[in-house]
Amino acid sequence: MEMEGHHMGEPQRVLSSEYMEWAKTRAHARFNLATSGVTPYPMRELGVTLDDIDLSGSSLYGYEPLQRALAAKCGVSVDSVVAAVGTSLANHLAMAAVLEPGDQVVMEHPVYEPLLSLARYLGAEVTRFERRPEAGFRIEPREVARVVSSRTRLIVISNLHNPSGALTDEPTLLALRDIARDARARVQVDEVYLETLWAYPTRSAFHLGGEFIVTGSLTKAYGLSGLRCGWILAEPELARKIWRLSDLFTVIPAHAAERLSVVALGQLGRISEGARTLVERNRALLARFLDSRPDLQVMRPGFGTVVFPRWAGGDTGRLCDLLRTKYETTVVPGRFFGLTDHFRIGIGGETDMLSAGLERLAAALDDPAAR
Ligand SMILES: Cc1ncc(COP(=O)(O)O)c(C=O)c1O
Repeated sequence: MEMEGHHMGEPQRVLSSEYMEWAKTRAHARFNLATSGVTPYPMRELGVTLDDIDLSGSSLYGYEPLQRALAAKCGVSVDSVVAAVGTSLANHLAMAAVLEPGDQVVMEHPVYEPLLSLARYLGAEVTRFERRPEAGFRIEPREVARVVSSRTRLIVISNLHNPSGALTDEPTLLALRDIARDARARVQVDEVYLETLWAYPTRSAFHLGGEFIVTGSLTKAYGLSGLRCGWILAEPELARKIWRLSDLFTVIPAHAAERLSVVALGQLGRISEGARTLVERNRALLARFLDSRPDLQVMRPGFGTVVFPRWAGGDTGRLCDLLRTKYETTVVPGRFFGLTDHFRIGIGGETDMLSAGLERLAAALDDPAAR
């Protein structure tokens, strides 16, 4: 099954996300390796008191303390920051602010499906460029340039790449910037997983030129999904346009969440330490598992929270179903990313759970019923 495909002549407008529905109704399991973020951070460790939060406050075009905290975290000026409900709404607002129906969007394949559905929902015509498994899912600027046209308004990538975890380096981002500049387009970079580099010295693509619109959140790297603390980085004029557009959606966010986000942003160093220690420990476990599996071909990014192996057994749909029903374990079937013989493993969960899940995954891979 090709989840992502649509046929010429069919309306492109999409009103749902198959992946999201699956994630909400089928991904849960005793051994859940389908999540891509770090295990939830306990609220009690934030040390908040009722004095730290409130139900209402002065939040109009942003809550100033949160705006300042996000700007400081990202190393940008406050007028380039638009707070949004998670990277999800950030992606929506960013795309909706620059696209008109019929515009061309150039998007990576494989891709995080909601990005694709969102562009189609907005009436864009989506053209894909390949990030090839055999090339470590690297972005080849030549491949991008080949599909960009005078109708292209937006090039969309994720960095780190979901599903593979591949990092796109600055020379490649600069090449994308130049392609976009020539086409009078912009580059939207979903950096929600760039946060999982924690200690590595990385900077947002935003710093590489006004062509970039960046989205991110505290969701994945810090176990803080529940805060829905997301942001867009855009040059100030576009940022203002996005704020105005946000009036059509959320008007203002939940203030208690804004206040908690300020508290969390003040503790990110400490929260990162725990997350990094967990994921590095888990990466060693994953490496041992992958070493033992000649039937899995995989690019090991060395950072991030996901890997995306190709299975020699072919279509992973049956494997993933069996893994879930017989082995109480979930991974994400590759069909949701448009590569049916792959699946995604997340390593941000508790180590004991991951360890047991990988054992069960090995058993399922060896189970004749999986093919
Ligand atoms: C690439 C990418 N962007 C955005 C999101 C959603 O982020 P948030 O939960 O902050 O809305 C995800 C979640 O899986 C993702 O993988």
